[in-house]
Amino acid sequence: MERSPTITTVVLDQFERPLRNLRLSVTDRCNLRCSYCMPEQDYVWLPREDILHFEEIERLVDVFTDLGVDKVRLTGGEPLLRRDLPILVKGLAARPAIRDLALTTNGVLLADAAPALKAAGLHRLTVSLDTLQADRFRDLTRSNDLPRVLDGIAAAAPHFPGLKIDTVVIRGTNDDELVALLEFGRRYGAEVRFIEYMDVGGATHWSMDKVVPRDEMLARIATHYGSAVAVDEHSSAPADRYRLPDGTIFGIIASTTAPFCADCDRSRLTADGIWYLCLYAAGGVDLRRALRDGASRTELVELIRGIWVNRRDRGAEDRLAMRDRAPLIPIDTLRRDPHLEMHTRGG
Ligand code: GTP
Ligand code: 5AD
Ligand code: SF4
Repeated sequence: MERSPTITTVVLDQFERPLRNLRLSVTDRCNLRCSYCMPEQDYVWLPREDILHFEEIERLVDVFTDLGVDKVRLTGGEPLLRRDLPILVKGLAARPAIRDLALTTNGVLLADAAPALKAAGLHRLTVSLDTLQADRFRDLTRSNDLPRVLDGIAAAAPHFPGLKIDTVVIRGTNDDELVALLEFGRRYGAEVRFIEYMDVGGATHWSMDKVVPRDEMLARIATHYGSAVAVDEHSSAPADRYRLPDGTIFGIIASTTAPFCADCDRSRLTADGIWYLCLYAAGGVDLRRALRDGASRTELVELIRGIWVNRRDRGAEDRLAMRDRAPLIPIDTLRRDPHLEMHTRGG
């Protein structure tokens, strides 16, 4: 591929938000069926021939880094289901423009994969873990793989200092495990982040009464440990971080009740090359078509720049402003277009 056409300055959208953070879904498939993401019995998958090859992904990543992206996170579905993933990691890690290369996994395949991911140059790792109880895990994910996830975390922690554990908190399901999860995280030196249940596409069982707002989580945590103090920092990351009296740091991602749209520098590329400007966006831009039709690096840069400068998306804030919030997308609409699903857009 041709060399970078321009040394890029920052590209800003309509609300002065830079294009910096790219979430790269490498597969729409998943080996779990989390109730907040894939609760249905059947799913329509992306056609195999549409899935981008590693070289295609790398070409698009080069275009994004030309435009200022320096953070890349690999997501799924479950990214470790993608064959030969460490080869892609190695290719991306070799690009100096990528300052931060991370991956989010459900942990089922992690014990085997962790050393190869480290060797390939992955910088950071986040593991999703919503419960420490085997029966609950089965109800939540329709799988018996909790021991494999726990083994995965144990195997990965020494390779990835600063490991993060993401927990989606659902009222009446796992909201009594905040302390247990914090204790678990502490054992591995991992930062636990509690995520408010979001009404994203695919969350067909979502309702507002199942959301545990950030303040309620903080109050529950304070009952056990004493008050947590907010860590004074500004970043575009979605998590607000807190320090417990004993020094333990944890995060809360309050995307449902206190969205971070004003600072959002992220966009998403699906495994078949559709680019989304917002988790909640109804439609995306088909970069696969442009790429396979032979667009040059310069043409792709200009295409993406032109779209980003017009970006006005504030999806989570728009949702917050709605009365009578119900699941975002009806199930029959989801069946017609898998791109509307969170597991296709990357968690
Ligand atoms: P780092 O800070 O780079 O470690 O990652 P992160 O905080 O961005 O974490 P991650 O990308 O794993 O996202 C954690 C959770 O935040 C996701 O699983 C979602 O629940 C939520 N989230 C991620 N991206 C978005 C987004 O674009 N919009 C909103 N509203 N929420 C998001
Ligand atoms: N609400 C909040 N987070 C979600 N994720 C997927 N669906 C939802 C949802 N409805 C995120 C979680 C999970 C990751 C893979 O995707 O953080 O850990
Ligand atoms: Fe960004 Fe859209 Fe998420 Fe808001 S809802 S934080 S704009 S991706």
